[in-house]
Amino acid sequence: MESLRDARTLPASWYTDARIFALESSAIFHHAWQYAGLCEDLTRHGDFITCRAGRVPIVVVRDENEIRAFINVCRHRGSELVLQERGNRKSIQCHYHAWTYGLDGSLRAAPGEKLEPDFDRSDYHLLPAQVGMWGPLVFVNPDLGAPPLDHLLGVLPDLVRETGLRLDDLRSRKGVTYDIAANWKVVVDNFLECYHCPVAHPGFASVIDLDTYTVQEYEFFSVQTGGGRESARRTHQYDAHGEVRDGFYAYLWPNFTLNIYPGPGNVSLNLFEPIDESHTRATFEYLFVDEVDDAAVEEFSRFIDQVQREDSVLCESVQRGLASGYFQQGRLMVSRESALRHFQSLVCQALDGHRSPSAPGACDLNPGRSDYPVDGRV
Ligand code: FES
Ligand SMILES: [Fe+2]
Repeated sequence: MESLRDARTLPASWYTDARIFALESSAIFHHAWQYAGLCEDLTRHGDFITCRAGRVPIVVVRDENEIRAFINVCRHRGSELVLQERGNRKSIQCHYHAWTYGLDGSLRAAPGEKLEPDFDRSDYHLLPAQVGMWGPLVFVNPDLGAPPLDHLLGVLPDLVRETGLRLDDLRSRKGVTYDIAANWKVVVDNFLECYHCPVAHPGFASVIDLDTYTVQEYEFFSVQTGGGRESARRTHQYDAHGEVRDGFYAYLWPNFTLNIYPGPGNVSLNLFEPIDESHTRATFEYLFVDEVDDAAVEEFSRFIDQVQREDSVLCESVQRGLASGYFQQGRLMVSRESALRHFQSLVCQALDGHRSPSAPGACDLNPGRSDYPVDGRV
């Protein structure tokens, strides 16, 4: 808490130590809502998508009119069950010894089961996970006791609607993956401020008027906005004419962002998946209204790709600096980096009480959370 008040960053070891990473996997990602994919991939009976909540593999399936999520681990000997990212299947059959589960998670068959007198299929139902929807977006949570997705989202869906964007009208048009040699929190920290934009992102600064840039924190998310430059609508990197006038960049705890750029109906979704303490996989998904043609999708994704390549260089250089042994804790410029402090306080809150005595750099941050009212601006 004192550190947060003093505007210090999290200790460097929190970004570099495998023990902190392991702690985060259980204390954060086993209890958090994770973006899993899109409803458009779950429209027919048997459609499925897979994702990970930290180390927990999860499969989401459509079973007739219901969308269900299960821990994607076989109850026989623990193999991951469904290995593909998405597809359609009539049942969930394990690729190891062919235990076969229905789309409702019940065990339907296990080869050789008749030879096992005490074998009862009902003992081996797939373990369920929570599933929640925000418009076309599917989220999952391995913690059945966690508050529902709406609690996490608060007023975020209202704020997105106020941009003029209708999320339900969007379809996925392109996906890109970036492997970044940096801790997931370095990547989130970098997303959460535009202090670096004038220096590092000349292209972005030519589209968004940084003088109008604002950052606002809520309970479990924060929002950055910036006015679209008039000049950018005429000569710029992509065609920014359309129903959305301003940039809107939302971060949602713990590792998801939803970004709307000036122009026709568009959204780019980013998921920052922790791989280990110094690697993160960033998956970008671009959705547009149907009127946007393929050439415009390409132009738009090239623009964002440029910004992301610039960000990857920044994040990887931060990771190397944090691991140098010559950096213990930095100083936030709170007027420009308040959303980092908000994020870091959520990290501290999640880890508080979970820290093992062996975890290094035990944070003296104990932010107590009373300063972040539900659904209210901070
Ligand atoms: S581990 Fe799945 S059937 Fe054996
Ligand atoms: Fe950036």
